[in-house]
Amino acid sequence: MVLPENMPMVSHTRIGLIERYREFMPVTEKTPIISLMEGSTPLIRADRLAGAISPNLTIYLKYEGLNPTGSFKDRGMTMAISKAVEEGSKAVMCASTGNTSASAAAYSARAGIDCIVLIPKGNIALGKLSQSMIHGAKVIQIEGNFDEALTMVRKVTDNYPVTLVNSLNPYRIEGQKSGAFEICDALGTAPDFHAIPVGNAGNITAYWKGYKEYFAHGKIKRLPKMIGFQAAGSAPIVHGHPIAQPETIATAIRIGNPASWKSAEAARDESGGLIDMVTDEEILEAYKMLASMEGVFCEPASAAPVAGVRKLASAGFFKEPATVVCVLTGHGLKDPDMAIKMASKPITVPANMDALMKVLGY
Ligand code: F0G
Repeated sequence: MVLPENMPMVSHTRIGLIERYREFMPVTEKTPIISLMEGSTPLIRADRLAGAISPNLTIYLKYEGLNPTGSFKDRGMTMAISKAVEEGSKAVMCASTGNTSASAAAYSARAGIDCIVLIPKGNIALGKLSQSMIHGAKVIQIEGNFDEALTMVRKVTDNYPVTLVNSLNPYRIEGQKSGAFEICDALGTAPDFHAIPVGNAGNITAYWKGYKEYFAHGKIKRLPKMIGFQAAGSAPIVHGHPIAQPETIATAIRIGNPASWKSAEAARDESGGLIDMVTDEEILEAYKMLASMEGVFCEPASAAPVAGVRKLASAGFFKEPATVVCVLTGHGLKDPDMAIKMASKPITVPANMDALMKVLGY
């Protein structure tokens, strides 16, 4: 089929974040922009949730699950893959708890380059694994955890012509900082608190960079306090030392030695915020509250900031009225096994009206 010359490559009802925030992105007219129209995700005001957590809070949910591959990773990946292609790279590689690999696989497919992913066997949610596979990445499971996988990937990318696309790649951070711009553009100001899950600690680093850049450009007049949350079984920053065998049901943040540890601490300290931890039980309660009270379905790791805000609120942390943005980093469909486990089971009835009316109770 021959397309007319002027046929657009994509629909422009939604634009990718490099195009939206071009002046803040390290691209030139020579950079090939590899995009799937990522970013511009909704900022949803969650009054029922706030009502259940604290009368002092106005809570917004930055629903990052609505990115093209279902997580915030697409923000960083559009930048990282665009720059890799600009620099002539033919292959990229990452270690992942699942979302980075899904995003790297999709953007590599779109760019027509190879993608290799190293994942911890048995600790990847089903949706994420299926994404990497269907996009044609070379998927290698290691009998080890994320931290071990990342060490191995760094050795390969240091020594062979393969581009690292973990968040140690500075272009990942550049793309991901756009989330902060969108929040400020939507609110007309920065929130009082920015609540975020912390795993490998790239995203808290990126958001803080974004807020600081917007502040320096006079787009906002104040900065938020960054409040990060790790899972209790995987909380190296909270404990102040690496965790050799991290554990949590929130597999996305099952990380014992975050690569961006120092810059996460800098974000915490410069903003006057904190990094705390929440138990798996607290995470799952928040996960169910989001789905049942607000109709917002996120994956367990994404519920950590909501669990954390709830924990702080019940300890009397929020003394004044405050606005909190919680970043919901990944979509609930990423981890269908967890949703099925946590919800009530479907009722089975024979295909007749009597049986149906009996269970409906009418
Ligand atoms: N939430 C989700 C859904 C994630 O997938 C991740 C990280 C985080 C939060 C934490 O972000 O690492 O920047 O502090 N996932 C990485 C991955 C590690 O491989 O997909 P972070």
